[in-house]
Amino acid sequence: MKFFIDTANLDQIREANDLGVLDGVTTNPSLMAKENIRGAENIKKHYVDICNIVKGDVSAEVIATDYEGMIREGKELAALHPQIVVKVPCTKDGIKAIKYFTDNGIRTNCTLVFSVGQALLAAKAGATYVSPFIGRLDDVSTDGVELIRKIVDVYNYYEFSTQVLAASIRHTMHIIQCLEAGADVATCPLSAILGLLNHPLTDIGLQKFLDDYKKVNG
Ligand code: E4P
Repeated sequence: MKFFIDTANLDQIREANDLGVLDGVTTNPSLMAKENIRGAENIKKHYVDICNIVKGDVSAEVIATDYEGMIREGKELAALHPQIVVKVPCTKDGIKAIKYFTDNGIRTNCTLVFSVGQALLAAKAGATYVSPFIGRLDDVSTDGVELIRKIVDVYNYYEFSTQVLAASIRHTMHIIQCLEAGADVATCPLSAILGLLNHPLTDIGLQKFLDDYKKVNG
């Protein structure tokens, strides 16, 4: 399973990348706004800065909601850097735009996916990635991880090449559950990635090794 970090914060991207296990980055307009990145040129520069930190796919989301606007923006984003994957919402115009991008060699991430039906349309349009939002489903008393499992099953059965990118991950256990459900990618906050490291027995064991070493070595 690939690991993406879900942020537009350059320090967090560097920290995750320095671990040596990072495969890519996802952003969205809310994450860009959180970093106060504003204006078309600054936004484009920020995407290029991210690409220069990480060797892997970087999702950059279109703002337009109409087909022509999505095509125009998506082409501009894709031209910024070979690592850019154009993120497109799962709407009627979005699916049409994904099909256009697929036919023209531009990779896509179909975002805001909450059902198997939406995931089917994304795959039929040739999306590189589909992003089911598991945390937001959990927020409304619906099992987000179960949706990942269902989409993985359907894609495997029908041999779709679209990769399942589990998004809206809120904590470390979500990562483990998505791994078990067969997701191709998990895009996670830095805290959830670092949480994978935590185990009290590791800390206790390491302390004992160091104490025993000191007993005989001083
Ligand atoms: C990433 O691709 C998504 O935009 C992101 O994971 C959404 O996360 P949220 O539900 O925590 O905003």
